[in-house]
Amino acid sequence: MNTKRNTMSVKKIRQMLGGDPELDWVADQLTSVAQMYQLYESAQHEISTKLENLDAEFEVNYNHNPIHHIDGRMKDPQSLMGKIQKKGLDRSVNTIKKNIFDIAGLRVVTNYIDDIYTVKKLLSQQDDVEVIKRKDYIKKPKESGYRSLHLVVKVPVFKAHDVETVPVEIQIRTIGMDMWASLEHELRYKTDVDRAEEFASNLVDNANALFEIEQNFQDIHHQL
Ligand code: GTP
Ligand code: MG
Repeated sequence: MNTKRNTMSVKKIRQMLGGDPELDWVADQLTSVAQMYQLYESAQHEISTKLENLDAEFEVNYNHNPIHHIDGRMKDPQSLMGKIQKKGLDRSVNTIKKNIFDIAGLRVVTNYIDDIYTVKKLLSQQDDVEVIKRKDYIKKPKESGYRSLHLVVKVPVFKAHDVETVPVEIQIRTIGMDMWASLEHELRYKTDVDRAEEFASNLVDNANALFEIEQNFQDIHHQL
């Protein structure tokens, strides 16, 4: 993969602060945040590679791809700071590592409902993957109508001098659930409260209808 990355480096941080010794503590803080982001991004890559490999194996063996596509995102620093404040935590990297589990995020969009649980099972049974949190909003959808399987998994990342296990948040959902969540998210952020309420019950109905359609599609797929 050829991606041009604009990563912060220790050298760039020092240069940015103009080598002022009074700002050394700022440089130290920024450095540890940059190191943390790089570490979490590596964990995200480890997991997405595992998922891509599982999907490829399925294609060879069963002529079926459970995964439609995977999106990844790193939590932006501003939203990380917001979350720290909301939780009343201090800003040290150690506290962040112990308390925030969605710095690295993956969204796995599957073709069918069954595929969600297949992906979950195949990933979580790997020796170096540990599931530390699990929320099944498919068995028990949110009041909004939201459906997805949420996992936080820990995976070891091999660094130059040691190994660290790092959490990655994974949302697994079907194409229909993903389509619904995108629209609902857009409505939530783009419209005012009154209008959002006007849409709310309609959205729940649509979430249920989509789920039913996806169940029907799955039945047809099983019969093929
Ligand atoms: P966070 O602090 O947001 O991580 O809260 P939490 O740990 O209680 O997580 P939760 O399982 O509620 O949701 C985490 C993520 O799932 C959110 O950041 C969204 O991406 C997604 N999500 C949860 N609920 C909804 C919903 O009702 N609509 C949409 N569109 N997305 C949702
Ligand atoms: Mg979150």
